[in-house]
Amino acid sequence: MTTPRKTQRGSARQQVSRTVDPARYDDVRSRGVLLCVDNVSVSFDGFKALNNLSLLLEEGELRCLIGPNGAGKTTLQDVITGKTRPDSGSVFLVGDPRELTLLSEHEIARLGIGRKFQKPTVFAEHTVLENLELALAGGKGVFGSLWRALRGEQRERIDEVLRIIGLVEHASRPAGALSHGQKQWLEIGMLLAQDPRVLLIDEPVAGMTHQEMERTAELLDGLAGKHTVVVVEHDMDFVRSIARRVTVLHEGSVLAEGSMDQVQRDPRVVEVYLGESC
Ligand SMILES: Nc1ncnc2c1ncn2[C@@H]1O[C@H](COP(=O)(O)OP(=O)(O)OP(=O)(O)O)[C@@H](O)[C@H]1O
Ligand SMILES: [Mg+2]
Repeated sequence: MTTPRKTQRGSARQQVSRTVDPARYDDVRSRGVLLCVDNVSVSFDGFKALNNLSLLLEEGELRCLIGPNGAGKTTLQDVITGKTRPDSGSVFLVGDPRELTLLSEHEIARLGIGRKFQKPTVFAEHTVLENLELALAGGKGVFGSLWRALRGEQRERIDEVLRIIGLVEHASRPAGALSHGQKQWLEIGMLLAQDPRVLLIDEPVAGMTHQEMERTAELLDGLAGKHTVVVVEHDMDFVRSIARRVTVLHEGSVLAEGSMDQVQRDPRVVEVYLGESC
């Protein structure tokens, strides 16, 4: 991604506290929330890409995030992962009272928020196993020599990830030889190697075959419970197949939230988004 990082040099932003309001922190923690996004706004040259957006994600839930093009789905992920600094608002993880909007992308990743962009970015010439080894080593190391350096439990984690993503039999193949769907699973596996608390996954099934989509639905379904998973997707058949709780974004705010049935019946959602895809 080449989008320049949006920096905040204004004095107002510098006054944001480095730790979140203790009352708010205790409140969301007592409700089983893991990730809290409170009243976040982002503008680009006066255009509000996010407009007082709030979102609460519970520990272990699978949340689908939908909405028309330009609704702010990617910008929201950019804020959560520290790629974009909001003009106002707060983001934090229960378990750590630090304000995430003041941390670097690297620090946020280390806290356990992993992100998968739409396009797979695996190392094509290296094997599936080597890709996972490198991910587990946090990108530090040299291909081919990592396996020996890994501790027993790290090797077990890689074996487990290979099983989860269904690529055990492909471990020694170059990643470049995998199908598009398999590459997407490998990249999800590379995030899993770090055992993240939150996984943000952008349009995982674009370009997949029907069979690959079904397999991806099973994979994401199986990750919920162990991880908090946010899936951004335009393919409504796929969303329907995995949806538990769905959040609909529109013009930078939450338009509706609920089960797939509930949001599908909401006339505002039908008008701005689902009308054409149902
Ligand atoms: N770096 C930027 N500079 C200027 N405008 C931006 C920037 N990033 C996003 N925007 C604008 O902010 C709005 C929200 O964009 P965003 O990419 O978050 O939407 P989205 O919901 O992810 O859409 P899509 O479904 O097409 O991926 C859009 O109008 C977009 O043009
Ligand atoms: Mg987007």
